[in-house]
Amino acid sequence: MTEMATGPGAVLASARPRTRTMKGLVLAGGKGSRLRPLTATGAKQLVPVANKPVLFYALEQLVAAGVEEIGIVTGDTAAQVEAAVGDGASFGARVTYLPQAAPLGLAHAILTAQDYLGDDPFCMFLGDNFLKRGIAPYAARFAADDSAAQILLKRVDDATAFGVAVLDENGRVQRLVEKPKQPISDLAVIGVYFFGPEVHAVTPRLTPSARGELEITDAIQGLVDAGYPVRSAVIDDDWIDTGKKDDMLEANRLVLATIGRRIEGTVDADSTVVGDVVIEAGARVVASTVRGPAIIGAGTELLDAYVGPFTAIGPRCELVGCEIEHSIVLEGSAIRGVPARIADSLIGCEVVVERSPLKPQVIRLMLGDHSLVGLV
Ligand code: DAU
Repeated sequence: MTEMATGPGAVLASARPRTRTMKGLVLAGGKGSRLRPLTATGAKQLVPVANKPVLFYALEQLVAAGVEEIGIVTGDTAAQVEAAVGDGASFGARVTYLPQAAPLGLAHAILTAQDYLGDDPFCMFLGDNFLKRGIAPYAARFAADDSAAQILLKRVDDATAFGVAVLDENGRVQRLVEKPKQPISDLAVIGVYFFGPEVHAVTPRLTPSARGELEITDAIQGLVDAGYPVRSAVIDDDWIDTGKKDDMLEANRLVLATIGRRIEGTVDADSTVVGDVVIEAGARVVASTVRGPAIIGAGTELLDAYVGPFTAIGPRCELVGCEIEHSIVLEGSAIRGVPARIADSLIGCEVVVERSPLKPQVIRLMLGDHSLVGLV
């Protein structure tokens, strides 16, 4: 990690530790348009990575950094998020839900949470962002000074899909631009931000961007322009904005690579389970091969099946006479008698993929909006 403070208060900033406890602000509202149809009815923050909702990693990492008071901003999918997270006790946190009237931007989410946050410093964590090693060192660094904001940056090949930061020759944050059309910097602003109460002086004065949102990049720019110290750190951790299928598969790959081996379900004598594999309680592996790293969810049945590396099969699934690898299958789905190996796939809840005995022998599809089918 390399880091730099900016603004007139920068020198002063590193000398004064904060006295107030940091809160968490997790964003789980918004629209999940890029993962449709998976998110047409469910929250994109609840799509599982290694059989655990991506949002849970954010909550766990906040708690691991000592942040136990967490506000979760919700939108249309509030009921699903609340059902999954509850009061936060299972994470060691106290969770307060903060309904956002409409997904009007990340800075609008801060406005929505303003009363809840009060004068406390806070860590805003986008509920669809995944960081492999967590936030503890950055939280500790922010707690130890009094800069008005700390942003985390990651060098990426194509930064036009993100907010980007332009640093000056001394490495200080000069300019922030949301999804620039031209590549003006390779430093993407990742979805974990640390703010002091100074941000509440800026957010009420923001105006909507061309896409109609109150942008977080404009809020941070407002702090820089007003001369507040804004610290940045270029991280070398793995970071994924899980908005798209391949990003979900990559996050899945990263978590499965460290999953270890735990067999709580049953594996019959005709089956082979190789390497780091988790087979959850109540799962049954019959005449099948599982080659890790992989996870097989509770109550799932494999019969005459092959599950290859970097695959997460959710709970209550049925895989019969099929092969699958480098894929995510969500709860309650069935794959039966498929002749070609399935790979690089994200399969939603209660989906059926099967060889049909019906005549004529044709491909019969019932697909949600924006589905994608790759045939051999
Ligand atoms: O992933 C990092 C990027 O996240 C940053 O580089 C960008 O500067 C930042 O604007 C943001 O861009 P996205 O376009 O990826 O944001 P998205 O609309 O996907 O929203 C991020 C999360 O916040 C997502 O879990 C939904 C939630 N959200 C979003 C909006 C707009 C809310 O809770 N409320 C909202 O109003």
